[in-house]
Amino acid sequence: MPSQQVFDSKDGAVYTTSNGAPVARPYASQKIGVTGPLLLQDFHHIDLLAHFDRERIPERVVHAKGAGAHGYFETTHDISDLSCAALFAKVGTKARTTIRFSTVGGESGSADTARDPRGFAIKIRTEEGNLDWVFNNTPVFFIRDPAKFPHFIHTQKRDPQTHLKDADMFWDYLSQNPESIHQVMILFSDRGTPDGYHQQHGYSGHTLKFVNKDGDWHYVQIHLRVEGGFKTLDNDTAGKLSGENPDYGIQKLFEAIESKNYPTWNVYVQTMTPQQAESFRYNVLDLTKVWPHKDFPLRPVGKIVLDENPQNYFAEIEQAAFSPSHLVPGVEPSADPVLQSRLFSYPDTHRHRLGTNYQQLPVNAPVAPVANFQRDGAMAFVSQGNRPNYQSTISPLTYRPKPYDDKEAKHELWVGNARSELSEINELDFEQPRALWSKVFSDTDREHLVYNISVHLRNAKSAEIKARQLSVFAAVDQDLSDRIAKAIGAPTVKPLQAAPASQSVRLKVNQTQA
Ligand code: HEM
Repeated sequence: MPSQQVFDSKDGAVYTTSNGAPVARPYASQKIGVTGPLLLQDFHHIDLLAHFDRERIPERVVHAKGAGAHGYFETTHDISDLSCAALFAKVGTKARTTIRFSTVGGESGSADTARDPRGFAIKIRTEEGNLDWVFNNTPVFFIRDPAKFPHFIHTQKRDPQTHLKDADMFWDYLSQNPESIHQVMILFSDRGTPDGYHQQHGYSGHTLKFVNKDGDWHYVQIHLRVEGGFKTLDNDTAGKLSGENPDYGIQKLFEAIESKNYPTWNVYVQTMTPQQAESFRYNVLDLTKVWPHKDFPLRPVGKIVLDENPQNYFAEIEQAAFSPSHLVPGVEPSADPVLQSRLFSYPDTHRHRLGTNYQQLPVNAPVAPVANFQRDGAMAFVSQGNRPNYQSTISPLTYRPKPYDDKEAKHELWVGNARSELSEINELDFEQPRALWSKVFSDTDREHLVYNISVHLRNAKSAEIKARQLSVFAAVDQDLSDRIAKAIGAPTVKPLQAAPASQSVRLKVNQTQA
């Protein structure tokens, strides 16, 4: 368990008020006479109610329903040529780790088996600070321009008037933003309904950068492959479970750990040099694309094992604050605009959801010592004693240089306009979804995909929206579109017209010389 006071549920502790004073009669309130009115002097009663009134904190604006556990990350292979992070410096290094899994769109009471991507958020407590990998169980995402994120999310949540989920809103957005098609096809395959949280893969989705001690860097994609394979539910079983056991995912994860069937993931990276990135068929910073494994094979790094259930869900999972910007030397963000946007958004929401000093909460506090000039604020309980609160020459902090010199770092040099449109659709956007349909999926997968889409898309009332989404599917494959059209009783449509592949955004890394 992370740095958290350990309690024993059977320790026979004496019941007290919040200031620690013993109370003899927990069910009694002080009244005049037998029936009241109540007395203001009854601190025990006021303490009880006032705290109860404040029990809820805001739920996460997305990924509100979740489950989590603790365990460890272990480095199993030497990747010091890729990254100088202390975590990877020695094979056998272990770090305490917490993972929170989640669905995305539903509220904190919603069903675990809903068709939705699954969040896969990991906090690795390294000796150089916390490294958070805030991943999903899909290798791609719906957008490549972060300006669309709140719009997209609103359409997957409730209608402002009816307060209902709305299939028109859902498909209206997706059909107008066809760069989502790759993720839509994964979402509507059976991978959109995983069998619990503990039997699925995880993916960085984003391209990150690993930097070694010489300042040389690679683009990387991180993959977590679950031992035992990715298990899924079919649409009807997932739907049935949503009613019968909305907490299926929480329960299966908890039970697996209690019965010592510890969920385990092998961690791999795909790597790409900046030079390879410039000649890569796709923009390496485009989150809607994967890197073909035959060109960029998986290289083993380590493993993650979950072997400990939380003692207290709220303190250890709900209060956990994961951010893609919680990085350590040797692991850096790429310029992927969606990732860059996330670097801001998570700590911002943590300050709102948990408060300014969210990093001091036991589950978030790094095991690495923290020393800086941040002071005070609501609920500050680690105040750094009498250390100076400014950069002092009288009692200075010490500064450890990075293994690689930032000034000399062989970073990218970006030139161009301040504003640009990333979402224009071109032929390249359909290549990978087409391969998924025709090469990766089996006949059963294809049948399920058509069925899973049709039971959702048929709920859209607007014929125009249905036709527009069918034209997106037709751009992937005419047969896919025609089969869905037949299943929902809609006319067949022609593919939407996309710009030629030559008009796709190309990456120019423009490395400076060291
Ligand atoms: C949760 C924003 C895209 C994975 C969240 C939260 C916000 C957010 C505000 C709530 C965090 C909290 O309350 O602690 C965004 C924005 C995005 C974006 C602005 C794009 C512009 C993504 C992508 C992924 C992802 C692409 C995965 C590759 C997650 C996960 C969580 C989460 C796993 C749950 C973290 C937890 O369990 O505490 N996101 N998100 N998000 N997001 Fe995103």
